[in-house]
This record gives sequence, C-alpha cells and structure tokens, in this order.
Amino acid sequence: MRIAVYSTRAYDRRFLEEANSHRRHELVFLEARLDASTVAAAAGAQAVCAFVNDQVDADVLSRLQALGVRLVLLRSAGFNHVDLEAAARLGVAIGRVPEYSPYAVAEHTAALLLTLNRQIHRAWARVREGNFALEGLLGFDLHGRTVGVLGTGKIGRCFARIMLGFGCRVLACDPQPHAEALAMGVQYVALPELLAESDVLSLHCPLTPQTRHLIDAAALAQMKRGAMLVNTSRGAVIDTRAVIAALKSGQLGSLGLDVYEEEGDLFFRDLSAMAIADDVFARLLTFPNVVITGHQAFFTSDALCAIAQTTLANADHFASTGQPLHAVSVERLA
Ligand code: NAI
Repeated sequence: MRIAVYSTRAYDRRFLEEANSHRRHELVFLEARLDASTVAAAAGAQAVCAFVNDQVDADVLSRLQALGVRLVLLRSAGFNHVDLEAAARLGVAIGRVPEYSPYAVAEHTAALLLTLNRQIHRAWARVREGNFALEGLLGFDLHGRTVGVLGTGKIGRCFARIMLGFGCRVLACDPQPHAEALAMGVQYVALPELLAESDVLSLHCPLTPQTRHLIDAAALAQMKRGAMLVNTSRGAVIDTRAVIAALKSGQLGSLGLDVYEEEGDLFFRDLSAMAIADDVFARLLTFPNVVITGHQAFFTSDALCAIAQTTLANADHFASTGQPLHAVSVERLA
C-alpha cells in the first residue's frame, strides 16, 4: 500500500522504515502538516499517516476521499483531531495506536512533577552560573502527600502506581473506575473532592466535549491553594487563561505542561530564531514555577518502535480485511 506520511521528522522515518523492512508498503515521507493546503501531496496514495497536530477535519477528509484515500493511520492514541462522523460518511477508515507505552507518558509526568517540586530547572541554571544558594529552591516530601489522578486509563494507572511507590495517597476520578487501580490502593472520589484534596493534580483523560476546559476558573478555585497541576493529556482539558490567572494570584502553586491548547502552531518545530506570536504561551514562559515540554511525553525509543509497528499492522490489516486492526469509529464519541 502506498502511504503518505505527514508531519514526518527524522525519528518517525527511522522507526517506520525499520517496521516496514519485512513489509511491502511504499512509504512517502512528507515534512508538511496535513491540512487543506497540503492534502494534494497524498495523490496516488491509498492511505495517509497523520500525527496529533495534523488536521483531519471534514474538509481534509473529503479531499482525501476524492484523491482515492480510504484509510487514515493515526500515529497516536488520541483522536480528538479527527472528524469521525465525516470519516464514517465518506467511507474513510481511521486506525490509531491505542497503546504504545503508557510508561513513557507516566514517567514523563513524574519527571515534570519532580522537576517542579525540587526546582531542578532553576537549580540547573544556578549551578552553571556558580550560584549554589538554596533560597527559592525549597520543595516538599512527596511521601504522605495526596496526588489526584484525573482519568485512570492506561497512563493514569501507570502514573498512579509510580506515585504509590513514592508513598503518596492516590485519589482518582474517572466515570469508569478500574479494578486494577482499586486493587493497587487508589481511592475513587468525585471531582470536587479530587480538586479539594490533591496536593498534586495530574490529568490523564482524553479531550472530549465533556473534558474541554474541565479545569477552568471554577475548578481551579476549588483546588488547595498552592497545589501543583500537571497536564500531559491534551492542552484544551485546561483553560489556559484561567490557569495563568490562578498562577498570578498564587492559587495555583506550580504548573507542568507537556501539551498546550494552541500547540499546533508551535510544537515539533525549531522556532528558536523567531519571536513567539502566541501571547498566552509567551506569558506562561515567564513564570519561574512553570515547566513546559513540547509534547514529548511519548518520546522514547520503546514508544516510537511500538507506534511504528502498530501503525503498519493497521495498514496490513486494512489491506487484507478493509478495516484497520485498531479502528476508531464514530460510536467512540458516545
Ligand atoms: P485511556 O483511554 O486508556 O484512558 C482514558 C481514561 O480517561 C479512561 O479511563 C476514561 O474513562 C477516562 N475519562 C474519560 N472522561 C473522563 C472524565 N470526564 N473525567 C475523568 N476521567 C475521564 O487513555 P490513555 O492511553 O491512558 O491516554 C490518556 C490521554 O493521554 C490520551 O487521550 C491522550 O490525550 C493523552 N496522551 C498524551 C501523550 C503525550 O505525549 N503527552 C501520549 C499519549 C496519550
């Protein structure tokens, strides 16, 4: 199958070529993001392969369909950027990678949490300047603290296990409580209690109409004053402007982000020689108690290998059955 691979970086190419070594797919690597202006580059392909900031909306899907594309292979677990109803209407199948390495994302979440708590980002800069003063670097013991986990799917459970290993009390909120989480000692509570009790709140739910801006001004006001918020799920689960106001007032003690509402215009590119046009993002960068990474929580060799393998397994399955192995259907929105 000829597959146009959008948003390709050198690492995508490396792992996809390795996974394709025993297969017969023709991979056409494109650096461009998939959107209405780049869709024509998929001409001649039966499938396109897309990443998290590619646009898979109704317009792009109908243009793809007109070109003869019948399959979109997402190199991600999340599918909030896909118009599933349009895909179903147009007869374009959507495949995703439901699980590649929950450990990668959970471990990165822990890295953000530890960096913020022990101020590693500031200590690193100080020591390089010959400044060994400790003022301003005070942290707290994680042991005995309460960590709130919003969403106990694969990543949330993995993160909960890490936090339990630190000796934390782990509370969780999820419309579908998981037996494994209960068995490891996680206690499920309602959202207001999760917000009120957590010293650290970590978000691991998908972005859906129900979770968009779930952490807004009202939710932030219910949190413990000075608590830490970490988001490695999707940017729009938090209302960034409300979070900035909470950081300014001190209601929010610190913030770790791997995702950002408007990350599509920023992340996965080297913009170091340019001014940042997004004033909200630029404001976030000014806080000493904010640490941001550019959607890199998934970025381990283990995860990239698994993403490439599953992506091509989806293509193999589609070639033999007409459906990807891990299909995303419109029912998933319900
Ligand atoms: P999953 O599907 O295994 O788990 C999601 C959990 O969230 C489910 O248990 C679900 O019941 C729960 N949930 C849904 N609505 C909720 C709500 N309103 N409140 C609380 N919980 C709710 O997904 P997985 O693999 O754990 O991934 C979670 C999210 O992490 C993905 O949807 C994706 O957005 C994000 N992600 C981020 C990555 C990164 O590199 N930063 C990489 C991979 C995933």
